Amino acid sequence: MRFNLRKIIVFCIAVLTLWFVLMYSSLFVSPQPNRQNNVLELEKRIEGIRNQLDDQVKQSNSLLSKVQKQLKKTKHDKTVQKTQDAYDDQNSVSRPILPVLVIACDRITIKRCLDNLVKFRPDKETFPIIISQDCGHNATYQVIKTFTDADPTINVVKQPDLSDIPLSKPKVKFKGYYKIARHYRFALNYVFNTLGHEAVIIVEDDLDISADFYEYFLGTYPLLLKDPSIWCISAWNDNGKNGLIDLSRPELLHRTDFFPGLGWTLRRETWLDLEPHWPEAFFDDWLRDPVNTNGRACIRPEISRTYSFGKVGVSKGLFFDLHLRYMQLNMEFVEFTKLNLSYLLKEVYDDALTSEVYSLPELSAEDVMSNIGSGPVRVPYSNAKSYQRAAKKLGLMDDFRSGIPRTAYRGIVSCFIKGRSVYLAPNYEWTKYDPNWG
Ligand code: UD1
Ligand code: MN
Repeated sequence: MRFNLRKIIVFCIAVLTLWFVLMYSSLFVSPQPNRQNNVLELEKRIEGIRNQLDDQVKQSNSLLSKVQKQLKKTKHDKTVQKTQDAYDDQNSVSRPILPVLVIACDRITIKRCLDNLVKFRPDKETFPIIISQDCGHNATYQVIKTFTDADPTINVVKQPDLSDIPLSKPKVKFKGYYKIARHYRFALNYVFNTLGHEAVIIVEDDLDISADFYEYFLGTYPLLLKDPSIWCISAWNDNGKNGLIDLSRPELLHRTDFFPGLGWTLRRETWLDLEPHWPEAFFDDWLRDPVNTNGRACIRPEISRTYSFGKVGVSKGLFFDLHLRYMQLNMEFVEFTKLNLSYLLKEVYDDALTSEVYSLPELSAEDVMSNIGSGPVRVPYSNAKSYQRAAKKLGLMDDFRSGIPRTAYRGIVSCFIKGRSVYLAPNYEWTKYDPNWG
């Protein structure tokens, strides 16, 4: 037993000594590099974990954005489908009556206008013609009578108030515009209140029409009924010169915040809102102020369905020679009543336009004109000055009304130059027009 105890004690001492030696060597034999190694190792591992976490966050984010995109697309597709279905339903509603109101004064060349209105009219019942004559010009009245005598669906009414409009000296030169506004008020009240029509197509006596003029207004009429953000349909593209339009797309239509006039449809409902505030003069510019039309839009074609031959008019010949003379009248008949035009409804159009335009490459107006590159582009502008500079360079009209450039929709002006779509677009987040522009 004693012997065993000794043995055990010796054994324990030996083990303890060995353990001591080992501990000593692990603690004191080159301790610095080892600790550094450990710290470096730890840092490496932390770095690794951080990288892994970063990767995972990145993956989750991209997955999340994919899911969000898909959700948005599904929602958008559903809206598009719903609006398309609703649009088709609306289209199947019984045919409307769309009278054509011709605003006349003292031009005997109204014959040219009436000849075309009669020639292209597909259906007398749908499109009765009402001529309203101002100015008391007998020779013009005699021309009009040859049409009304020949066809009971063509009628004439005379604007009864031919009294002079007293104006202060500086305003006298604008008397014509006062008379026109007075005449429009009478003629529209006559069509809507006396005759009780629901809508009207307004034409001036110096306009030619395209062969598909009636088809255009009949086909687009459902848009006017369906979309409360649209108040007018116009046959006119203010930038409709050859060289600024896509001649291969006669079916293409656009929304615009700039009232184009020159052949347009107006609903009775809208007239009842406008009439109490109707201006004494410059009614067209008045209609271009968003305040008067509740910021609503018009529809306009890529290629105009009217052409103005009125060189001698109230605004004189300068505008005609500089501008109107070069407008392109559409030559290809489009069956608008058979087209689905739901892409023009606000809930479809606005997002589609902005996402298309802002995904395009940028190009300066100069580079567009020197044929740099190909395919659709966005020409950015930042203020009235840079807009006008670019518009001038591209050959577009560069004037504003109530801060709105001609043909603009939400600040974007679309045209077609040298075989490509060009969009003049704000390089800032557009919210509204600035009436101080222009
Ligand atoms: C311009 C516009 C026209 C707008 C008018 C009013 C163009 C190309 N034309 O007239 O669309 O309606 O400004 O701001 O942009 N008229 C009368 N009574 C008159 C004089 C004219 O009823 O005392 C009639 C004419 O018959 C015609 C219309 O008003 O139908 C416009 O007259 P016009 O002489 O053609 O003037 P624009 O300079 O073309
Ligand atoms: Mn005119």
